[in-house]
Amino acid sequence: MIPPRILTGQVLCFTRSPLEGDPATAARIDEAVLIENGHITRTGALSELRAAAPQAKIERYDGHLISSGFIDAHAHYPQTGIIASWGKRLRDWLETYTFPEEIRLADPAYARDIANRHLDLTLANGTTTVATFCTSHAHSVDAFFQAAQTRNLRAVAGKTCMDRNAPAALLDTAQSGHDDSARLIARWHGTGRLTYAITPRFSPTSTPDQLAALGALWAEHPTCLMQTHLSEQVEEIAWVKSLYPDARDYLDTYEIHGLLGARGLYGHAVHLTPRERARLAEVGAALIHCPTSNTFIGSGLFDLAARIADGHRVGLATDTGGGSSFSMLRTMAAAYEIGQLTGTALHPAQLWWLATAGSADALHMSDRIGTISPGMEADLVAVNLASTSAIAQRAGTAEDVWQALFPTIMMGDDRAIAQVWILGEPQS
Ligand code: GUN
Ligand code: ZN
Repeated sequence: MIPPRILTGQVLCFTRSPLEGDPATAARIDEAVLIENGHITRTGALSELRAAAPQAKIERYDGHLISSGFIDAHAHYPQTGIIASWGKRLRDWLETYTFPEEIRLADPAYARDIANRHLDLTLANGTTTVATFCTSHAHSVDAFFQAAQTRNLRAVAGKTCMDRNAPAALLDTAQSGHDDSARLIARWHGTGRLTYAITPRFSPTSTPDQLAALGALWAEHPTCLMQTHLSEQVEEIAWVKSLYPDARDYLDTYEIHGLLGARGLYGHAVHLTPRERARLAEVGAALIHCPTSNTFIGSGLFDLAARIADGHRVGLATDTGGGSSFSMLRTMAAAYEIGQLTGTALHPAQLWWLATAGSADALHMSDRIGTISPGMEADLVAVNLASTSAIAQRAGTAEDVWQALFPTIMMGDDRAIAQVWILGEPQS
């Protein structure tokens, strides 16, 4: 049995969602958190926790924020090596940079190398759970899940299915996409901390037959997640219209094929019609906000405040390598800036919530990860709130925890991540 651990610091315990009501009062700061057998069992004063577990090892992170680890609800691990590739919008970016790199993952050793590299980078940035697209090669899913398993991570992944409009080397068929995905579900879904996501890349790279086959597969495996892209760029929407002339809109290309549901994760969702918005909210599907990607590839401004007001489930994500950072801090900063451009200054509590509990809710995992409270898995991060001199001089004048946190949100990166715990085990 692993000995219990007590971490001290400013332990951020959300007591409700800051997306409703006054965000500043949505959390309590406790002095310490007790971890037993990989789970959080208590938070409170150090003296109380010591009395409850006298044999516990105490790790002091005084002055640091102790939070749930970050949850990146949409990423492409195979694109790790082409992050920050210059000068293209979505279709050209896919053809010029992304597909050639994804072809390289035909080599299983390279896929393993990139999966490990991705998880080393995300862990160094305080991200403890990633939901990722793989490539169309089934072994790219094995590579990712093995790398996650080695690190004991809770993780989500799926084989990216594409049977048209991509290089031949990346194409599957409606049948093989279905059959490979079914085999991968049998191998990985629910194994330890791993969850399978059925993954049609997006409507333009699947035939209606492939979407229908994957919709049927999801109906057979309803506990799987389903991840895809939706209404990211206006040119993409016109392309979808030309490929699916009978569909009512982009969402309908998924809906008529059984690919709309509460466990669906729809990346980007920037340019939605009123019908699409109403349908997505009605079924409780998750919109995944990818702010650094939406600016980097030039996709548009996701109106987060309006989507929250509409009652959508929303997660936050890097979308690496379309996104320009592995850091959920940089991602929160981009979400804040896009909020300003769309008329709402998001509160630090709302940004932090989206990067942790909001993404956990999008992945239907908020009973296990995303907040610090008894019973939750101890995937935690200690954040140094004075990690650079620029941040330190600003945080020095803070009058409350949110003011202390905001400079790290706006200017922080992996230098702010002092420690990461996975199931209570420190990673460095
Ligand atoms: N749409 C289809 N594939 C992709 C991808 O890999 N990245 C982004 N940002 N959008 C996509
Ligand atoms: Zn994506």
